[in-house]
Amino acid sequence: MSKFSLSKAPSQQGKIALVTGANNGLGFETALGFAKLGAKVILACRNNEKAEEAKRGILAKVPMAELDILLIDLKNLGSVRRFAEEFKAKYAQLDLLVLNAGIMATPFSKTEDGFESQMAVNYFSHFLLTNLLFPILKKTTNSRIVSLSSIAHKNGKIDFENINAEKSYSDWGAYSQSKLACLMFSYELQRRINSAGINAKSVAAHPGLSNTNLAQNSPWISKVLFGPLSKIIGQNAKDGALPTLMAALDPSVKGGEYYGPDGFMEAKGSPTKVKSTGRSHNVSLAQKLWQESERLTGQEFIV
Ligand SMILES: NC(=O)c1ccc[n+]([C@@H]2O[C@H](COP(=O)([O-])OP(=O)(O)OC[C@H]3O[C@@H](n4cnc5c(N)ncnc54)[C@H](OP(=O)(O)O)[C@@H]3O)[C@@H](O)[C@H]2O)c1
Repeated sequence: MSKFSLSKAPSQQGKIALVTGANNGLGFETALGFAKLGAKVILACRNNEKAEEAKRGILAKVPMAELDILLIDLKNLGSVRRFAEEFKAKYAQLDLLVLNAGIMATPFSKTEDGFESQMAVNYFSHFLLTNLLFPILKKTTNSRIVSLSSIAHKNGKIDFENINAEKSYSDWGAYSQSKLACLMFSYELQRRINSAGINAKSVAAHPGLSNTNLAQNSPWISKVLFGPLSKIIGQNAKDGALPTLMAALDPSVKGGEYYGPDGFMEAKGSPTKVKSTGRSHNVSLAQKLWQESERLTGQEFIV
């Protein structure tokens, strides 16, 4: 496989791409990459001012970029539903859906819907969003869904008895669980796409260790170390977005694959196909997680 670079990626003229958390960090770089290739990009963000600033940032680099802002708060299932309705009212096509927005190792909090916040933002809302947009993804030939996971998935366990911190809470434990859930969802979605014979790909990616705002609400030690550490052993957001862009754009990518950096401990480097834990490939666990996600989001997800 030759090394991926944006300059080698196919034109995305006429395509529609949606990126959650597009105002910052990896999401911004992903949206910028799609815009450079000519896609119309929907910036799915929770804060209009930040989204407008990101839009200006992209336009400064790609003056002809076609951009639209749609607001979504992934801490709220009602907001996800409203967003999906708004999207469906405006667009009849969705080529690239990037489930990027996330929070990391935040202090304990519950959402209005009763979810633990990291599970809500990183996983459950993206599960519901994909479900609600699936009819459009299904209609769009060769659509792709890219889920953001993390090296942290390796420490993750899906604890069905405590999935929303009903019994106890660990900030890093909940993050790892959420990122394992994103990866298992990506694999399970592809299995269901295959069974249904649909022309779509579900692919996962992780950015290694990338210098972004992700640790802003993490425990103080992680917050203090994240920036310097990501500069020393990790990479900048532009390079960190390359595995996502490869997963979304490279013609050689197959559904059910996982992309990350090829360097030491996958913290930085050129994007390549990477491996994930045995647990992430556990089919019965993934099916149970899918059913539990349907139950908790209150919506059956038929692929
Ligand atoms: N950076 C890394 O080293 C690393 C490593 C592994 C995985 N990842 C994954 O990469 C993804 C992007 O992270 P990043 O590093 O780019 O972090 P970031 O710079 O903090 O960006 C996160 C994005 O998610 C948005 N977001 C947070 N809560 C939201 C909510 N309730 N509703 C809608 N959007 C929300 C943020 O919006 P606001 O600006 O409004 O907060 C921001 O746009 C995450 O899924 C993360 O788990 C990152």
